[in-house]
Amino acid sequence: MVSLMIPLLCWTLCISSVSAEVDQINITAEPGQNITLPCRLPGNKPAAAVDWIRTDLGSGYVLLYRDGRIDPGNQNPSYQNRVDLMDRQMKDGDVYLVLKNLTTNDTGLYQCRVQKEGSLDIKLIRTINLQVLPPANQINITAEPGQSITLPCRLPGNKPAAAVDWWIRTDLGSGYVLLYRDGRIDPGNQNPSYQNRVDLMDRQMKDGDVSLVLKNLMTNDTGLYQCRVQYEGSLDAELIRTINLQVLPPGESLTLDQNQQLP
Ligand SMILES: *[C@@H]1O[C@H](CO)[C@@H](O)[C@H](O)[C@H]1NC(C)=O
Ligand SMILES: *[C@@H]1O[C@H](CO)[C@@H](O)[C@H](O)[C@H]1NC(C)=O
Ligand SMILES: *[C@@H]1O[C@H](CO)[C@@H](O)[C@H](O)[C@H]1NC(C)=O
Ligand SMILES: *[C@@H]1O[C@H](CO)[C@@H](O)[C@H](O)[C@H]1NC(C)=O
Ligand SMILES: *[C@@H]1O[C@H](CO)[C@@H](O)[C@H](O)[C@H]1NC(C)=O
Ligand SMILES: *[C@@H]1O[C@H](CO)[C@@H](O)[C@H](O)[C@H]1NC(C)=O
Repeated sequence: MVSLMIPLLCWTLCISSVSAEVDQINITAEPGQNITLPCRLPGNKPAAAVDWIRTDLGSGYVLLYRDGRIDPGNQNPSYQNRVDLMDRQMKDGDVYLVLKNLTTNDTGLYQCRVQKEGSLDIKLIRTINLQVLPPANQINITAEPGQSITLPCRLPGNKPAAAVDWWIRTDLGSGYVLLYRDGRIDPGNQNPSYQNRVDLMDRQMKDGDVSLVLKNLMTNDTGLYQCRVQYEGSLDAELIRTINLQVLPPGESLTLDQNQQLP
């Protein structure tokens, strides 16, 4: 077991060469969210150990995984009980980090590093610039059951989008409302209660318009909807807008001043 013989210090001192071309991605998220930070080992070589660090963090790891388990020894206290590998088997070289209950203090530069089995070298695989910001650009919309509505969202600039998703957070949990990529709706991870009720208003996304059409509203559609985009040629996931949708209980109707003004 080579990894056992490597002193912990080595993780901070032994990085042989840090390539300037290590790819960096930006991810933005909101406080309270759970997210995954993507990282995949090249090739399919088995890893002896993986660590996630934050370069601007005084001391300690975000997560150190070796000998088949999380090593809590030198973990920074602010990450205790909030992080895990998405797949501890590291199948297909996936060493995605799951980070729960984000706070604005989690903003920082994260690095994913790996030590291959039988090797002493520790290689930097990826750097992620995570920004946790309070809900920006949030609007409130109130509607009645049975209505069809449009949740407005427009991408800034004119960069082509590779993928767009609408995500919801309710008291009942969270999940995809709609994921649009490769020119079509991906039904894979869609929350069943939205099947056949949602679409993009314009699948061409002309002028960056990725507004969502939601039909036959139900009271339990109430929740926070988030419109997120991934631009072509990039892995960055950018939160564009949050919409606080309230669907009134049956029988209660909108008064005029409550009626939404779509921006
Ligand atoms: C990531 O964000 C930085 C600024 O925070 C920006 O300069 C850089 O271009 C962004 N990278 C990508 C790939 O969008
Ligand atoms: C985050 O994960 C925890 C535990 O897995 C879960 O209880 C919680 O609801 C999740 N939070 C969000 C906002 O999805
Ligand atoms: C999430 O973090 C906030 C603030 O740090 C805390 O008040 C809350 O209890 C945490 N929620 C969970 C589910 O751990
Ligand atoms: C962020 O860190 C500061 C200083 O350590 C602390 O006072 C504050 O409560 C933290 N905020 C959150 C949301 O955890
Ligand atoms: C949206 O509703 C919340 C309360 O649910 C309120 O605090 C906030 O000011 C409202 N925002 C707008 C833009 O009306
Ligand atoms: C909302 O209610 C409908 C019918 O009452 C039910 O079929 C659906 O699963 C519910 N949606 C969620 C997200 O619980």
